[in-house]
Amino acid sequence: MSQVTAVILAAGEGKRMRSRQPKVLHPLCGRPLIAYPLRTARALADRIVLVVGPNADAVVERAGSDVRAVVQRERLGSGHAMLQAQAECGDGTILVLPGDMPLLSFETIGRLVDHHRKSRAAATVLTAVVPAPQGYGRVVRRGGRVRRIVEDRDATAAEKKIAEINTSVYCFAAAKLWQALGKVSADNDQGEYYLTDVIGILARAGARVDAVVTQDPGEAAGVNDRKQLAAVAVVQRRRILDRLMESGVTILDPASTYIEDTVTIEPDTTIHPHVTIEGPSAIGGDCVIGPGCHVSASRIAERVTLLPYCVIRESAIDEDATLGPFCHLRPLAHVGPKAKIGNFVELKKSTIGRGSKVPHLSYVGDATVGQGVNVGAGTITCNYDGVNKHETKIGDRAFIGTNTSLVAPVTVGEGAYVGAGSTITKDVPPGALAVGRAQQVVKEGWAARKAKKREEH
Ligand code: UD1
Ligand code: CA
Repeated sequence: MSQVTAVILAAGEGKRMRSRQPKVLHPLCGRPLIAYPLRTARALADRIVLVVGPNADAVVERAGSDVRAVVQRERLGSGHAMLQAQAECGDGTILVLPGDMPLLSFETIGRLVDHHRKSRAAATVLTAVVPAPQGYGRVVRRGGRVRRIVEDRDATAAEKKIAEINTSVYCFAAAKLWQALGKVSADNDQGEYYLTDVIGILARAGARVDAVVTQDPGEAAGVNDRKQLAAVAVVQRRRILDRLMESGVTILDPASTYIEDTVTIEPDTTIHPHVTIEGPSAIGGDCVIGPGCHVSASRIAERVTLLPYCVIRESAIDEDATLGPFCHLRPLAHVGPKAKIGNFVELKKSTIGRGSKVPHLSYVGDATVGQGVNVGAGTITCNYDGVNKHETKIGDRAFIGTNTSLVAPVTVGEGAYVGAGSTITKDVPPGALAVGRAQQVVKEGWAARKAKKREEH
């Protein structure tokens, strides 16, 4: 089999995005736009050439070291962009992919490449039949065969009625492509060198030009502005949810569920409405992700329950744990197996051991909590002295009474008790009871004496 070079065209200016950021770096469901053609190219091609405009170092960096990047210094058209890639391309098949059409599926492009290889055509165009072809290049056929592509602005009234459009995805036999590109002129309404002209040049020379028509014209939707980015995101989001549902995940309300392309979820997990799961997150099987939860770059093991409205960032939760409602895990929180984190609890850079409970109204930061510990309501680790952060350690089976302040650095030993309302500034040995609060004073009959004094005045 001859080799395949994928050329990704991404030198367009992307003016209509009105952004300081290159268009192809705008995120779509958790990955930059450019990641989508790159993924297809990596699966189907032996080498990848990326054509970028000037000042696109960030795009090249994001593409990765296996990609050969070339810069198109002047934006003279898609044909001119292809010529910049020539020196980096191999013989065999050239697959052209636009940088801004993320919905093109791997299956469709695979079908195009297969057809092109089997037919040994000089060029094969991926086309789509659409209800509103305005703005696109039209595929002009004669006797059923592709004769040429005419851009919308150069089309005659009759040509404008053609509903079959050029998607901008093509396969070419390398030698034929470079020969024909040499003959392309900028004699058109925009004064650009159009890659689309290669089709007519090859057909006129008697070379075989084929078309593969997409089953789903929606795949050819491009991103030129932010409204199109949002429209494409609706489709991509639904694809992600469909993939998850097909693999055994229950999604109660797909319309209000936002799960990025970077997320994995195991079967028999249920996702309630208004959930967002983003970044590189992995969720195990048999979990319940309650309404309104927001999970970002986190790992959640099997059989975890998130009650409504938990915010989980860059954290890990082990199997059979229950969290929420309304808890906040900040980066580097680690909740152990069967642990319980309740409402209005914030964890940061802390480990909570197996079966331990932090059920209500607590802040636990820079702490290591052992197994089987009970942290009473309103317990606060005082981890910050205004300059440095300090650690709190709580041993296995310790019991921290409600409304305790643990002034770090401090250690509460295994099996120790801390009385409610304590401010703990010194280490508590294993098995001890520490009470750090003022003694209660009781004055019998005080209220009556006070009332009597008032009468005397
Ligand atoms: C292009 C096609 C059109 C097709 C449509 C599908 C041409 C002339 N026309 O039109 O037939 O229906 O896509 O969306 O190709 N590019 C460069 N350098 C340039 C110019 C373009 O790299 O100097 C890249 C763009 O980044 C883009 C691709 O080439 O990925 C197509 O260019 P664009 O300007 O978007 O062409 P369209 O007008 O959309
Ligand atoms: Ca375009």
